[in-house]
Amino acid sequence: MKQLLTIFCFLMTFISGMAQDFRPVFHYTPPQNWVNDPNGLVYLDGEYHLFYQYNPFGNKWGHMSWGHAVSKNLVKWETLPLALPEYPNSDGTTTMVFSGCVVVDSLNTSGFFEKDFHKGLVAIYTSHIEGKAQHQSIAYSSDKGRTWQRYDKNPVLDLGMKDFRDPNVIWYAERNVWIMTVVKPLEYTVQLYESKDLKTWVLLSEFGKQGDMTKIWECPSLTKIPVEGKNQYKWLLMISSGHRQKGYLAMQYFVGDFDGKQFVPQKQDEILYVDEGKDFYAGIPFSNLRANQKMPIMIGWVNDWEYANDIPTGKTWRGAFSVAREMALRLTPSGYRLIQKPVQALQKVGKSVLLAKNSIISSVWKVPFQGYSYDLILEVQPQKAEAFSLRLFQSGQEATLIRYDVASQELSLDRTKSGLVDFHPRFSSIERVKVPLQKGKLHLRILADKSILEVYVQGGEKVMTDWVFPTKSEGEIAILAEGSSIKVNTLSIRTF
Ligand code: FRU
Repeated sequence: MKQLLTIFCFLMTFISGMAQDFRPVFHYTPPQNWVNDPNGLVYLDGEYHLFYQYNPFGNKWGHMSWGHAVSKNLVKWETLPLALPEYPNSDGTTTMVFSGCVVVDSLNTSGFFEKDFHKGLVAIYTSHIEGKAQHQSIAYSSDKGRTWQRYDKNPVLDLGMKDFRDPNVIWYAERNVWIMTVVKPLEYTVQLYESKDLKTWVLLSEFGKQGDMTKIWECPSLTKIPVEGKNQYKWLLMISSGHRQKGYLAMQYFVGDFDGKQFVPQKQDEILYVDEGKDFYAGIPFSNLRANQKMPIMIGWVNDWEYANDIPTGKTWRGAFSVAREMALRLTPSGYRLIQKPVQALQKVGKSVLLAKNSIISSVWKVPFQGYSYDLILEVQPQKAEAFSLRLFQSGQEATLIRYDVASQELSLDRTKSGLVDFHPRFSSIERVKVPLQKGKLHLRILADKSILEVYVQGGEKVMTDWVFPTKSEGEIAILAEGSSIKVNTLSIRTF
């Protein structure tokens, strides 16, 4: 018996010291294979659809097709069979189904559906023929996206270019037209088209050659968005492009007005980024949200093309999606700024525990919690301290460090000692963003999920999303004060 117990204890120590399972719990990942951009985020009849760039045959980019998942609450997702596979052409080439969107054609403007059927879905995607062409094509579904028919007169928009992609379509009710944003990636140009039937597209205007042009432009979207606390709407143009740290990828945004034909941005004296981490890209908003859902909701791809094909999750799956985020604008002295918050439904899952209230920390506090998947809320008053930090996913020397430096007002996320970092020379990094204290306080909400960290700062004024790959499994949390003591107004953790 004693021997058995010894073996059991040895096994337990061995298992708990073993490498982590990186698969997140509340971020969607497909059961297997490679994913990139979310495509066709659409709500219909109680179901949120997440279509996405998917390789049905492997765990690296290739054979691009649309995968499909659905959710009733935007938190728990169910994977459905492949929606739009790549397809062969008569000349022996193959068309890959690149990024795009899905709209509900409730007025049957396309004529694809039976009379009086108001639930027809139309997918607008880039038909990509490797090395040859990119044009926009459409497909339609009468059974809530379970099966699709490609339009027999595709493509519907072709400029004869090799790089012309990622259509995103909205319904512009004031003029009863569909509006498409689509990019010429190498020209840093978004084109706006209109259509009455999703088949014939007429160019309205162009926007571009400004903002971040350190990388090509991809995945544009134009969205009507409310201004916090005011009865006012503006227009948000998001583009996937370069990062504040040169060479990486991120999303930038412009805020402005749209008269149904042209987007005119507000004057802005800095480049505005949606997410300051390395791993948030190709995000697009949901289409056809319920009328009482005033704030647009977006999901992004958690990854960076710089190393996306090499992240060490690859044995079964590779790539993930962010949690769904609600978006609004906040009017600040420097102009309108994007605010993002995880959808409220996330708060309804799991159990929250209050771990500290008005506590003073003079040097280090080891939080009485261990884990790798949680939703943490921390509000700190640094008082006279020079800095404070939060060590997450800590086991011995391994930890991810989130640190706030009071003098420079800089928040950093350091993943250089977070676990596996050597799988790609571009992975190990420190993200930095300037965020002033508000009334002497810093508010952090951290969604930690096995290998994904989404850090929402000051109620979503700034967000940082990063992969980290912890190899150990103690999952401790510590809070450190530097220079002088800090006051933790609140610390609560919700587990799933
Ligand atoms: C963005 C992107 C898109 C393209 C798709 C291909 O990540 O490069 O521009 O449509 O991925 O998978």
